Amino acid sequence: MKITLIKGDITKIKVDVVVNAANSSLLGGGGVDGAIHRAGGPMILHECQDIRNRQGKCKTGEAVITTAGNLPAKKVIHTVGPVYNDGNRLEKEKQLLADCYSNSLKLAEANDLKTIAFPNISTGIYRFPKSIAADIEIESVLNYKSETIEEVIFVCFDDENYQLYKEKLK
Ligand code: APR
Repeated sequence: MKITLIKGDITKIKVDVVVNAANSSLLGGGGVDGAIHRAGGPMILHECQDIRNRQGKCKTGEAVITTAGNLPAKKVIHTVGPVYNDGNRLEKEKQLLADCYSNSLKLAEANDLKTIAFPNISTGIYRFPKSIAADIEIESVLNYKSETIEEVIFVCFDDENYQLYKEKLK
């Protein structure tokens, strides 16, 4: 499984599936969630609403899959990261963040998707410390043994994350 680091906008990446840092409502938001819905168009929201009607909200650490609409990707996996709670429940939050990555990879495998792009989940509006989140993202992906996934792309939108990942992936 090849690991690639890119600084840029995940809505522009041509891969089988891009991962969205969603919230439990699955009905869109700001940050990368807003960017994916804006660029992908209403089909993504329609499928999110269908999922909501079928199974209710998406729990933190869980992942669901929809069309990618007008994005260059084929699919979007929506996963809900933990909100950072000033370190009072850090071990639990770290596990939930790791679950976002492993559950997204599992869902990609189950849908025979071979290339997957992740944003830096929970490090924006959810305020997770970037360095801890980066260690969790890298460790979760490197520890995930897959027979079918060929490439995982870490997409950093902001320079702080990009510098962190460049350093950690050396
Ligand atoms: N492409 C890639 N990464 C992006 C993009 C983009 N177009 N836009 C923002 N990001 C990055 C941010 O710089 C941050 O590093 O995504 C990372 C996650 O930040 P958020 O999008 O704020 O997500 P998160 O911190 O997980 O908070 C999720 O925010 O948007 C709402 O509905 C969402 O309630 C949920 C919450």
